[in-house]
Amino acid sequence: MITVTDLRKVYRQGKKEVVALDGVSLSVPKGSIHGIIGHSGAGKSTLVRCLTLLDRPTSGSVNIDGTELSSVRDSEIRAARRRIGMVFQHANLMDSRTAAGNVAHPLELVKTPKDTVRTKVAELLKLVGLEGFENAYPSQLSGGQRQRVGIARALASDPDVLLCDEPTSALDPATTDEILDLIQDLTRRLQLTVLIITHEMHVVKRVCGSVSLLAKGRVVEAGELADVAAELDSKLARALLPLPASEPIKGALQAGPVLEILFSGESAKEPVLTSVARHFDIDLNVLAGSVETLGGQQFGHLRVQLADHADYDAVLGYLRDRGISAKLADAADRSDESDFASDTADFAVETGDSK
Ligand SMILES: Nc1ncnc2c1ncn2[C@@H]1O[C@H](COP(=O)(O)OP(=O)(O)OP(=O)(O)O)[C@@H](O)[C@H]1O
Ligand SMILES: [Mg+2]
Repeated sequence: MITVTDLRKVYRQGKKEVVALDGVSLSVPKGSIHGIIGHSGAGKSTLVRCLTLLDRPTSGSVNIDGTELSSVRDSEIRAARRRIGMVFQHANLMDSRTAAGNVAHPLELVKTPKDTVRTKVAELLKLVGLEGFENAYPSQLSGGQRQRVGIARALASDPDVLLCDEPTSALDPATTDEILDLIQDLTRRLQLTVLIITHEMHVVKRVCGSVSLLAKGRVVEAGELADVAAELDSKLARALLPLPASEPIKGALQAGPVLEILFSGESAKEPVLTSVARHFDIDLNVLAGSVETLGGQQFGHLRVQLADHADYDAVLGYLRDRGISAKLADAADRSDESDFASDTADFAVETGDSK
């Protein structure tokens, strides 16, 4: 379990102070994966450095399975760091060492007996699906295979926590999913506590149970995936369930009101739109839609245009009575949607950050 409480990191640049982390709190239970998403400059790397003790926080606390990192003495930092496995964007392997040699490295650093190293390395390479690749050099491996070696190396010291900094940003979509599935599988099997830093919403959708949106050093939204996705106006929901830009249809439903509707859980399975049409005896058109399973729950985000004579207030009331989030779409909802992250595109929700 990782618990971060009111973490602050202020850098000094001459007379200027840069507040990189401005009171960050989060907690990740054992056996689960938490995503940290945010634009460049949001403070993601600073958070990683504070968690790995490469940097000392200005104030606040980081607690890993009951050990308070801020009170770890300099002489104990190495041991504390071994409880945290790091996975990097570019695997960061040593080119002059084989796959086995790379995985063995952290074990050799703490003078592990040779026989133990050999057995452990074989086990780890098997665990990440690289049996038979012991003697391959990084240059002979694909990007995905290199990342598997990086993961095996991160696990060599039997860490409790896996910190993944953009682990799939350098990989193609299919390999990304293989690596994400491996991380998820290892999280379950080894009961790891995992933090994934990413700018890709796809990563959050695929493996994270919970997520924090970081902007200007603060957590601006956070929660279980299914909870944040259910908030019609949240930035995370709009990034998780993006709607493409759409123009109101100029036809039979000319100039009718446009609604945004968010279905979740049970309501996502109900034929709500047809029941609206029947109940109010109106026609309606779906302008854009996005359907996903998030955190094990089904979600649907729709932009719907009603016939021009429709009483949209009554329709909104009808939907809300059925536990469905709905609102009148304003002009901004319709025009700036191209800004929102598509499945594999960069996370691009406006957080007020400098890009
Ligand atoms: N050593 C440092 N000295 C001064 N300012 C720093 C230092 N490290 C980071 N910062 C500042 O802290 C803020 C957060 O930086 P950080 O590197 O954590 O962002 P990030 O979210 O990792 O961005 P990116 O996605 O581009 O990697 C930025 O304004 C940055 O300029
Ligand atoms: Mg960074």
